[in-house]
Amino acid sequence: MTTTPTPVRPATATALDPRLTFPEGFLFGSATASYQIEGAVAEDGRTPSIWDTFSHTPGKVRRGETGDVAADHYHRMPQDVALMRRLGLQSYRFSVAWPRVVPHGRGPVNAAGLAFYDRLVDELLGAGIQPIVTLYHWDLPQELEDGGGWAARSTAEAFGPYATAVAEALGDRVHTWTTLNEPWCSAYLGYASGVHAPGRTDGESALKAVHHLNLAHGLACQAVRAVLPSARMSVTHNLHVVHPADPSSADDLDLVRRMDALGNRAFLQPQLEGVLPDDLVQDTAHVTDWGFVQDGDLADIHQPLDVLGVNYYTTSVVQKWDGVSPRVMEDGHMVSEHVPWVGIADADFVLEDGLRTAMGWLVDPSGLTELLVRTSRTYPDLPLMVTENGAAFADEVVLEDGEPRVHDELRTDYVRTHLLAVRDAMDAGADVRGYQLWSLLDNFEWAWGYDRRFGITHVDYDTQERVLKDSALFYADVIAASGA
Ligand code: NOJ
Repeated sequence: MTTTPTPVRPATATALDPRLTFPEGFLFGSATASYQIEGAVAEDGRTPSIWDTFSHTPGKVRRGETGDVAADHYHRMPQDVALMRRLGLQSYRFSVAWPRVVPHGRGPVNAAGLAFYDRLVDELLGAGIQPIVTLYHWDLPQELEDGGGWAARSTAEAFGPYATAVAEALGDRVHTWTTLNEPWCSAYLGYASGVHAPGRTDGESALKAVHHLNLAHGLACQAVRAVLPSARMSVTHNLHVVHPADPSSADDLDLVRRMDALGNRAFLQPQLEGVLPDDLVQDTAHVTDWGFVQDGDLADIHQPLDVLGVNYYTTSVVQKWDGVSPRVMEDGHMVSEHVPWVGIADADFVLEDGLRTAMGWLVDPSGLTELLVRTSRTYPDLPLMVTENGAAFADEVVLEDGEPRVHDELRTDYVRTHLLAVRDAMDAGADVRGYQLWSLLDNFEWAWGYDRRFGITHVDYDTQERVLKDSALFYADVIAASGA
């Protein structure tokens, strides 16, 4: 039986914008990912993933940081679920680490690895929180990368049996199954620009990865449904909202079309329509002939979905790159995002005035409304879920009456304005079923290491002490107001 959790503080619902109430059934939660929070990388039979290898390679991650310990969630899971309960979260989106469950990528299933997620799901349900499972959030078993990684078809083929193992273990206790998180990042940042694991820089491999990730998605949908016929299936994309610097420039408009093809439609059209975008195939003809797409693949990829996950952080304004101007670099990272676009969408990212997060991303809530409305107009029968949204800012822990506090006004404001943007989209007709804030905890922000904090809970990495930031208290109030 579930008891009512103690509120984190008296609700301030009356002070909330009255538009910040959402319909019954709208799921408020928070999101994390295995490699970013778990730590315990060598425990209970887990083998290295591409992110272990990458982060241990000098020069790849800021300050040489790794996910070896991260937020130590593997050992602190019950206390982290208790934190979620205090906040009144209704759902929790987490990912399962493939190298814990099938340590060699394919073959024997590791019961000890699965047991962790089994306990997590029970703990969540005991706290009245719905589990939203992501099967792949970037931690590919290194052994599969050694066999070609996502550029190889065999990796997609190994994903189905892995999905079966997780579905059999977690069963109908899972609210929603998400096959992949942001395959755009896996393919282009992993195989074209190389700023993410496995750090490869080859355009054709990146496009092969696009296709094999799509195939993995389709095979996993089939695998989960074979075990659980009524499973609610989903996939999460970081859809790009890109505007032309000069809307009357044919070059800028063509660039936006190319970025839409490569960034959005390369995944959406195969997965939701069973076709490869013609313009994508034409634009990339000098890179590949797409001969790796086999008969029957598009039918395998095109599986019915129950909800589409959308991750949103920012918008961009682009103009065609002149081919000469130097690209903006910061700490060895490509701020202008030139390289990931496989050389077929050479963009200059115009730096608009406005508030930027610690990632350098423009704060633009209207982009979220635009994205949700546009996507639901293109796919009117498919409900949407915001599976990530949040912001990194430099936080400071202060002591007040002996109590640690984090007054993260900018993050609180980010969450508030983006929730209002979701409300606007719903008022304009978008069918949005929930919001999963990124992130529950400060965590390992990939190539940026621990330097960028996205959590609504502050993590002291020396002591692993958790402190709820003001944004968490605000979010708890929003949830309480909608539940009232
Ligand atoms: C999207 C990714 O899914 C997540 O892992 C990452 O930490 C956030 N964006 C913030 O960059």
